[in-house]
Amino acid sequence: MSGGQPNPRRALRADLLDFTGDPGLGAPGLGAVRHRPDHWLLIEHGRIVGVLPGAQLPGPDWLCEDQRGRLLIPGLIDTHVHSVQLDVIASYGSELLDWLERYTFPAETRHADAAHARAQAEAFTDALLAHGTTAAVVFPSVHAVSVDALFDAARRRGMRLVTGKVLMDRHAPDGLRDDVSQAEVQCEALIARWHGIDRLAYAVTPRFAATSTPEQLAMAGALLQRHAGLTMQTHVAENRAEVAWIAKLFPQARSYLDVYHRHGLLNERAVLAHGIWLDDADRALLADSGAQIAHSPSSNLFLGSGLFDWQAMADAEAAVSLASDVGGGTSLSMLRTMADAYRVQALRGVRLSAFKALHTATLGAAQALHLDHEIGRLEPGCMADVTVWDWAAGPVARGRDALARDLHERLFAWMMLGDERNLVTTLVAGRTQYKRRNDDYGASETTDGSNQRRAAAA
Ligand code: GUN
Ligand code: ZN
Repeated sequence: MSGGQPNPRRALRADLLDFTGDPGLGAPGLGAVRHRPDHWLLIEHGRIVGVLPGAQLPGPDWLCEDQRGRLLIPGLIDTHVHSVQLDVIASYGSELLDWLERYTFPAETRHADAAHARAQAEAFTDALLAHGTTAAVVFPSVHAVSVDALFDAARRRGMRLVTGKVLMDRHAPDGLRDDVSQAEVQCEALIARWHGIDRLAYAVTPRFAATSTPEQLAMAGALLQRHAGLTMQTHVAENRAEVAWIAKLFPQARSYLDVYHRHGLLNERAVLAHGIWLDDADRALLADSGAQIAHSPSSNLFLGSGLFDWQAMADAEAAVSLASDVGGGTSLSMLRTMADAYRVQALRGVRLSAFKALHTATLGAAQALHLDHEIGRLEPGCMADVTVWDWAAGPVARGRDALARDLHERLFAWMMLGDERNLVTTLVAGRTQYKRRNDDYGASETTDGSNQRRAAAA
């Protein structure tokens, strides 16, 4: 859904929740949490301009929406997700390298077709918004048309989106490989076309060290040198077999992460997915360079990749954000991602608070991406990217919610039991880009009509 309201002044009444700092990995404390129950959020010309207590009505020239009893938070930020992998979500039975060969590469090959790429980009951006995600760092495919399609779809929805052509010049099938010079020409053209346009930014995107030659990694590093302000995104140390393969391909490197370091790819705008099989020297390098790990717990559990050591990252003062990593991850929902992060940490003996999880998916990610002046907070001057949620959906969750004794208990139950079905509405730059309909999750309602087709065939 695109479009929205022409009224430039809009007020939403709900329980406002955001963060003024990092609540930390330890036990839930209220220190950095800003909870303003029953308040109006005031939005003008797409930006947040203020907050009022609920009893104080904004005035006649405001378009007022009463969402009393609901939770209003900043739009969620997914720092690593593949727009071209919706077709392979929930594919059975393999670990990373086999999963890439068997499912993922064939699906991505289809994005050479511009019509397919456009249709998938529309479906993907709509799906992000229908899950409460208003900003994302995204892998499309190696094909320039998939990048154009994604930027165009995000631009029409007013979204903050960071993406760039995937670089792969080896160890990938026909139809998915580029070469150094062709890739460089395409990247330059895409940067010129999209970087800095509205809320879009370009990411230099070597898929992972196995699928780029050293020459291509060097070209990626040169692009970062040439153009200030570009993001770099890739994968690192996700799976043991992958790590062993990288060690064979780059015997001179100290570690998998060091391969990227040697090619000039680590800086404060680098987003590296996974980072499970790192050591202390790697974590120190991440902290020094300002690069962040996009922790992808759903994917790590689904592909059996391993249990991310968040505590060691925190000890090293290295940045961590949260990511769905769909299609390795099995849901675009950042609530499910947070719940899976809790489970992964529980298996390591660490208890992740709901405050820390939600901070990581909002202000924490915004800071790690150097975008906290724009997103991640309910603060005057920030863009009005906000989401409104039911605290509970369904009788079991409602019963649990009614028994919650404090804010953390309530938010934790929301995060563990909730998902996109709790989402009521998503605003991007003050415009409604998603609104739940009563039949959104009904058996006969899918956007492509597939349930109806199945029913007709039965
Ligand atoms: N490593 C290289 N490519 C991929 C990918 O598409 N998904 C995941 N999870 N890991 C990768
Ligand atoms: Zn990924």
